[in-house]
Amino acid sequence: MKPSSDLVARDRRAVWHPYAAASHTGPLFAVSSAAGVRLTLTDGRELIDGMSSWWAAIHGYRHPVLDEAVRTQLGSMSHVMFGGLTHEPAVRLAETLVAITPEPLRRVFLCDSGSVAVEVAIKMALQYWTGRGRPERTRLLTIRRGYHGDTSGAMSVCDPDAGMHHLFSQLLPRHLFAPAPRRAYDEPCEDADVAEFERLLARHAHELAAVILEPVVQGTGAMRFYAPGWLARVRELCDHHGVLLIADEIAVGFGRSGELFGCDHAGISPDIMCLGKALTGGYMSMAATLCTDEVAAGVSDSPAGAFMHGPTFMGNPLASAVANASVELLLSSPWRARVTEISAGLTAGLAPAAELAGVADVRVLGAIGVIETREPVDMAVIQPLLVELGVWVRPFGRLVYTMPPFITSPADVATLTGAMVEAVARTT
Ligand SMILES: Cc1ncc(COP(=O)(O)O)c(C=O)c1O
Repeated sequence: MKPSSDLVARDRRAVWHPYAAASHTGPLFAVSSAAGVRLTLTDGRELIDGMSSWWAAIHGYRHPVLDEAVRTQLGSMSHVMFGGLTHEPAVRLAETLVAITPEPLRRVFLCDSGSVAVEVAIKMALQYWTGRGRPERTRLLTIRRGYHGDTSGAMSVCDPDAGMHHLFSQLLPRHLFAPAPRRAYDEPCEDADVAEFERLLARHAHELAAVILEPVVQGTGAMRFYAPGWLARVRELCDHHGVLLIADEIAVGFGRSGELFGCDHAGISPDIMCLGKALTGGYMSMAATLCTDEVAAGVSDSPAGAFMHGPTFMGNPLASAVANASVELLLSSPWRARVTEISAGLTAGLAPAAELAGVADVRVLGAIGVIETREPVDMAVIQPLLVELGVWVRPFGRLVYTMPPFITSPADVATLTGAMVEAVARTT
């Protein structure tokens, strides 16, 4: 590795990175710019981006339409508080999100980040039941292998073993965990597959506020794709037992899985939906929690008479403007064809990995490609190797995975997958 040593050295003295020790000495690369699907390092090397900056930059970097949207918005205002004030970018964004999400979702709460959108969803569900005269309904049911963010409420529904429960057990409420769905994406769902979930739901319905899960794609916690039929059964069971369903679409929303939303694979609508990441095309942090009229009415009927949440940067005009531009750009683009093409490239390119002794599984859904290794990868070895091979792919545990921007060409997808297979072959 030949990092831009000055910047990296300064970073190591002052900066804390995600999921890292303060004094971490692992590989670190300084980026000077990014455009299209390429990141340029300060030493001049160019990398093909395989991560979309953690699911967000679906249009690539420095997209002229998105750049222009930010510049134009800067000309009128970058921020005003949202209490008692409103503005066109936020109103337009809410209208658009209502129009493109499943029909019963009618009300939009804009917030700062994915984790906060999950907190908002959980608070909405609890306040809803208070408004409906059932304040004892405060627990959540979720599935193992899930990931919903790093704030307390979100952490409390992340996988209890792989997540951070043991570290923060004094802080986190005890929720209920059903086994992760076993059936893969293309498998049918039998009654037996939902039996344990159904048992927990039936037994605890009286104290449950909501079921929360990632629809069809379990992202950061597992990179697994499960049967849409399972999700459809969950919706039926929630209706049957009168429990709200929260769909966390933060990673998978906006086309990543091949449908606009994960819920679309199962043809279902949740009571509450969380969106984030690709909402702004990766330009800045913003998320949204949507709910039905019924949920909104229940919340408003609660003793507080109002939903008790209101971040300082709620509805930020710059973020709203770029979100509007990103969603419009996506919907006016042939995104479905592009995702299908990337999917085919990922499938063909990653297939050789299945032959490697160190590989447990290879799977693709939409523009998501995963090599699951048998043992955790050594980041100190594989990360610089991937960079040497010209790609930005950031493995995690036993997962070497990619979710490239939708504008990635077949040739770049081939380079990405070739580098992933080679890196896994040489390090496992
Ligand atoms: C499904 C899901 N929910 C929530 C989050 C948290 O989002 P953020 O990192 O913006 O807080 C993530 C982030 O990876 C996610 O994948």
